[in-house]
Order: sequence, then structure tokens, then C-alpha cells
Amino acid sequence: MSKQTQKVRKAVIPAAGLGTRFLPATKAIPKEMLPIVDIPTVQYIVEEAVASGIEEILIITNSNKHCMENHFDKDYELEARLTESGKMKEVEMINDIANMANIYYVRQKEPKGLGHAVLCAKSFIGNEPFAVLLGDDVVINKGGEPALKQLIHAYDKHHASVVGVQTVAEDQVSKYGIVAPNQNVPADGRAVKLDNMVEKPSQEEAPSQMAVLGRYVLTPEIFELLESQEAGAGGEIQLTDAICRLIDTQAVYAYDFEGTRYDVGDKFGFIKATIDFALERPELKDQVMAYIQSIAEKN
Ligand code: G1P
Repeated sequence: MSKQTQKVRKAVIPAAGLGTRFLPATKAIPKEMLPIVDIPTVQYIVEEAVASGIEEILIITNSNKHCMENHFDKDYELEARLTESGKMKEVEMINDIANMANIYYVRQKEPKGLGHAVLCAKSFIGNEPFAVLLGDDVVINKGGEPALKQLIHAYDKHHASVVGVQTVAEDQVSKYGIVAPNQNVPADGRAVKLDNMVEKPSQEEAPSQMAVLGRYVLTPEIFELLESQEAGAGGEIQLTDAICRLIDTQAVYAYDFEGTRYDVGDKFGFIKATIDFALERPELKDQVMAYIQSIAEKN
């Protein structure tokens, strides 16, 4: 099978960040394990990957992230105790998590940036296209296809790398990788061919307001570029910079994916996700709504 027609089967979830924005909570607990209602954020990401057809997942971790491995593993003792107390629904729930996907782990030994973290997946991925999902971006597309699946369809159609984007406010561009669409190639539905990408540009320098929001499908040629990638914004090896160089040799597309994206790496984004996700739970919805209304009346 030629590389161009290979299926996207593997995904990388970089999760080696220090979680500085959530200190002190992240002193002993990885930020990926902070729960939205009662599910750790990393589980939402793994669920999206699995729902998008991914079969094998590599999580890039560091020495502080053991409990993430435990979360996706079997827990015989807990299972036995729950079984003894007749809590069979809970037994099923914890087993479902352990059976969700084939998950592997590799450590990023130094915090050298997102590009460097993705490079740690090189031998796991080999010579096939793969997905990258960032844990700070939780995307829900109620009733529709998961964000990553939309990107995979775009990859299957264009046989080229695809970055997931959405339009952000003008004063937000400096927080993201911003894409520059090729003005001479007409958009194909929600996909546009790219000319350039810039990591965290100033408002004046930003080529558009289309921001990369934590979903990528990449061809394996990205690894050679990451190997020679010099540090960029923030002194880190940036994935954006390597993708920008990939554009010189291969087509790269941006796909404006459907779905609501929550920046759970940000405190307010995390609170918004907590409220919205709680309102989606039949057992919590009425109580939470009544509480929000009572607060709104008081203020
Ligand atoms: C990373 C990427 C950036 C992307 C963002 C999405 O930045 O480097 O290109 O737009 O994630 O959340 P970070 O938020 O890790 O600084």
C-alpha cells in the first residue's frame, strides 16, 4: 500500500507539560487527571481518538504522570471490592476504561516543547500518517463526528497533513498557532490549503484569525523536520515551525472542524467545560441550572 493511502491508525497525546497554570492542584496530580465533573480530561481525549477510529495511542508523559497509566489499567483490587459490595455498574465502568484502547507510554526526558514531545513518538509511529491530540483542547461535537474524525476524512481525501482550526477573536491570536491559507487555491468545503503557519504571532503579524486548536493529522516526514528543528517561540521546539517547513515540500491543509472546543488548560475554560458538561448529565442538569439561576438573581 502506498503511504498516501495508508489509514490513520495511531495517535499521539502529548501530556508531559508541567501544568503550571493549575498549581497547586498539579503539584502532585497531572493536569490531565483533573476531572471535568467526574471524568479526567485525558479520558475525553482518548475517547475522541477511539471514536475517530484510532487503534493505538501513545501518551507522552514525564516522571510525575504515573497515575495516568493506572487510570487506563486494570485495577483488580478495586474491581474485587466493588464486586463484593455488589456495585456492578461501577465494575463495568472501570473495566470499560481499561479496555478502551491499546495505550502505550513514553517519557519526554526534558521539557523542550511540543515539537520535541511529538518527536518522542517517532519509533512508535514508524512510517505512517498519525494523529496528534492536545490534552488542553477538549472538543465536543454533539450529534456530529468527533473533531479528529473530521480531520481524518480530510486526510483521506487530500492525502496530506491536516491541522484542525477554528476562528478565534483578534485579541486571542497570540495564544495559538495561526495559519495562512493559500489565496490562489479555492477552499474545498471546510478545508483550505496552507501557505504558512506562525506560532503565537502578535495581532499585527497574524496572517489570519484561524487558530490551530489541538488536533493534527501528520505525515511521518514531520519527524525528519522535528529532528532538525531549532527552538522557536518561548525557546521551545515548536510543532508549528516544523509543519511550516513541511509546507515547503508537501501540501498541508487546515480543516475548520465542527464542534465546541474548551480550553481546559485555562481556568475559565475549565470552569465553562465543568458547567456545560454537568448540564449534559440528566442526574445533575436540574440542580445545576437552578443553582446558576439563583446566583444570577443574587448578582
Ligand atoms: C499549542 C501549540 C499551538 C496551538 C495550541 C492549541 O500551544 O503550540 O500552535 O494553537 O497548542 O491549544 P500551547 O497552548 O501548548 O502553548
